[in-house]
Amino acid sequence: MIYNKKVMDHFMNPRNVGEIENADGVGEVGNIRCGDIMRISIRVRDNVIEDIKFKTFGCGSAVASSSIATEMIKGKTVEEALQVTNKDVLEELGGLPAVKVHCSVLAEQALKAAVLDYANKNGKYYKELEGFSPDEEHPHDEEECD
Ligand code: FES
Repeated sequence: MIYNKKVMDHFMNPRNVGEIENADGVGEVGNIRCGDIMRISIRVRDNVIEDIKFKTFGCGSAVASSSIATEMIKGKTVEEALQVTNKDVLEELGGLPAVKVHCSVLAEQALKAAVLDYANKNGKYYKELEGFSPDEEHPHDEEECD
């Protein structure tokens, strides 16, 4: 399988790995097919995602896409962060092999779950989260993970 340099760099030296202590929001999602799990924690100040960290039992593509996603999201307002899709992440990474595209969805879903947790704890509402459920299977679950 061919990975570009940027993907390899983020896989070998992932940014923002770990867990924020006393996070304002934590989200965990899984891909039931491959069993990979992604956990994202966020610190929010004045509606800005001041810090974000991820942990994953995922493949290299999940690590690389989450690493770059956290870089893209840090410093954004919550609303801006919710606009970041796995397509943007893929673009920023310079692409992933087709069979690995679904791995980049984990970060997007985990971020949404973390924001939902933050919103629930703080009585906030974000229209970008309408229809989102962290427990729902995402559409990429039918794909094979390898
Ligand atoms: S996230 Fe399951 S194989 Fe990549």
